[in-house]
Amino acid sequence: MKLYRVLQSQGFGSRKGSMARIRAGEVAVNGVVCDDPESEVDPARLELTIDGVTWPFREKTYVLMHKPAGYECSHHPRHHPSVFSLLPPPLLQRGVQCVGRLDQDTTGLLLFSDDGQFIHRMISPKKGVAKVYRAVCADPVSEAMLDALRSGVQLNDEPSPIAALACDRLDERTLRLTLAEGKYHQVKRMIGATGNRVEVLHRESIGCYVLPVALRPGDWRWLETEDLKQLEQPWPSAMS
Ligand code: URA
Repeated sequence: MKLYRVLQSQGFGSRKGSMARIRAGEVAVNGVVCDDPESEVDPARLELTIDGVTWPFREKTYVLMHKPAGYECSHHPRHHPSVFSLLPPPLLQRGVQCVGRLDQDTTGLLLFSDDGQFIHRMISPKKGVAKVYRAVCADPVSEAMLDALRSGVQLNDEPSPIAALACDRLDERTLRLTLAEGKYHQVKRMIGATGNRVEVLHRESIGCYVLPVALRPGDWRWLETEDLKQLEQPWPSAMS
């Protein structure tokens, strides 16, 4: 593959822009500066260094973020900054999308990708990829509330009651809820349907993949092959 095409594919600008950067000596291929845009490179074993940052070649983009509170999962945010403003320009240029959305006040595990099939697999209810949330409620978590969430609660505009895959009380006002779907405001609406109210919401995991503790709010990182396998493990076998 020609070097300028690699740059383009990785989100480093248009054809013309990529060629100009290479000619200007801004690009190193596996540690060696290369100023010929037409030189042939093997994407399989390729690391590009641009502006002092090294980027391994990635055919598709899969990243995770620890979403902070106060950010909207939208390219056109209305009241808060966008989660996309926390990603570097090459990822935006590649057209990454959120894999499902979190509310602006929800924190935790958020995925991004430019692989439409992956996004579909992760969010389609038919695929059953579990999403695990920790919710702090306004009122104490009662046994009756847990029973209702486990057996199914009726939400407006839904044809039939929706049940959590699992639901456990963590402390007086906190519960962990596992869902197979990602409907609009689903956790808040389900808990609301029991007569309680969510005060704080955090997504802990997707599939068998848990948000790494070392990743601070606002930080992102690449998902590697092993991470992707964990993400796609269906619940509950993933948890056993
Ligand atoms: N359910 C909600 O209510 N909000 C979220 O952000 C995610 C799931």
